[in-house]
Amino acid sequence: MTVRLGIIGLGQAAQILHLPNLEHMEEMFKVTAVSDISAALTDYIADKYNVKNRFRTAEELIACPEVDAVMVMSSGDHAEYAIKALDAGKHVFIEKPMTLSAESAKRLIEAQERHPDLIAQVGYCRRYNESFYKMKELLRSSDLPITYVHARTVILEGPWYISNTWTEKKATDLDPSGKQVMMANLFASIKSLIGENATRAQIIAFLLITGSGCHILSAVRELIGLPKKIKAATVSPNGMQLALIFEYDGFNMVFEEMNDQKVVEFDESIEIYQGTRKLKLKYDSPYIRSLPSTLTVDELDGDKAKHTVYGPHYQDMFGLEEKEFYRSITESKRPKCDVYDAAEDIKLYLDIAKVLCESTS
Ligand SMILES: NC(=O)c1ccc[n+]([C@@H]2O[C@H](COP(=O)([O-])OP(=O)(O)OC[C@H]3O[C@@H](n4cnc5c(N)ncnc54)[C@H](O)[C@@H]3O)[C@@H](O)[C@H]2O)c1
Repeated sequence: MTVRLGIIGLGQAAQILHLPNLEHMEEMFKVTAVSDISAALTDYIADKYNVKNRFRTAEELIACPEVDAVMVMSSGDHAEYAIKALDAGKHVFIEKPMTLSAESAKRLIEAQERHPDLIAQVGYCRRYNESFYKMKELLRSSDLPITYVHARTVILEGPWYISNTWTEKKATDLDPSGKQVMMANLFASIKSLIGENATRAQIIAFLLITGSGCHILSAVRELIGLPKKIKAATVSPNGMQLALIFEYDGFNMVFEEMNDQKVVEFDESIEIYQGTRKLKLKYDSPYIRSLPSTLTVDELDGDKAKHTVYGPHYQDMFGLEEKEFYRSITESKRPKCDVYDAAEDIKLYLDIAKVLCESTS
């Protein structure tokens, strides 16, 4: 069975992360419709990928009878389109973050409950990865208690990575002032979520957490669960350097995110210490296709130090999550990153924002 896909939003995520994969998964997917607020971009992608239906509005795409499943990867909040897609009887793949508000997450869960036979999957690609699966398996099969966790998201010079590996087509027909209006609306909507007194730095930090930090936070949640408490949260005056301390039963986790240095570096990693053992998962880059992820394990056994490397694993994370979307649809199985799962993350982001706003205002 081929799932007929409609894609809403044809920017970086569609062009670099998903469309090139989907093109090579023709036994699973066929892109039959695309839509972007930019007509020029819609035409460019429809021509490039030979897509039969092109629409100016997401609503028309959702209503298209030649679409079985909708992928939402537009800018802005994804809840409305995802709910409309479910209510139109379509499966839906929602790029992260699913939404930023607890109210919208609740409405998405209600939509899923109205349509229990439809699949709604959220795009937490770092959780679809061989090194990640191995780390989870090693943790599950170990009696050693966790003693410390350190995780980081450092994505510096993202545009440099992309410009060296891909050519991204930008919309040329949109009013440039629209971007400023969109940013102003975004800042206003985040204030309404995290507090009307939130500073610019706090809002930027919230955007960092929900934009890029969310991958590692979600991966850590799958590995070790939610923290009992957020002990501390601090942000630099420009909002681009962030440190969080989470309290778990018997150990702490430190998470850092930073995005303001002129250095080409991609370091997303999770280190889990268990007294005599340390597991470290490192993602090299989600943008340069097929760069590996690696899991290393350091152990002290008596006076012997042992270093084991699992990987490097070259499987493309986006391809693995797309395959799970396909399997979930064709085998009627809930994906692990469903709307209930993603709602846990949204609660965590809002809890972090609360501590951040209290401690740095
Ligand atoms: N999984 C990942 O690693 C990853 C990486 C990058 C982006 N993303 C996610 O993908 C989504 C899109 O990010 P991006 O980097 O592609 O952004 P982008 O700005 O490059 O592209 C967004 C596109 O959506 C279009 N758009 C805006 N409003 C629309 C609407 N109402 N209907 C149709 N199209 C609309 C814009 O014109 C633009 O072309 C975001 O949710 C982002 O968090 C995920």
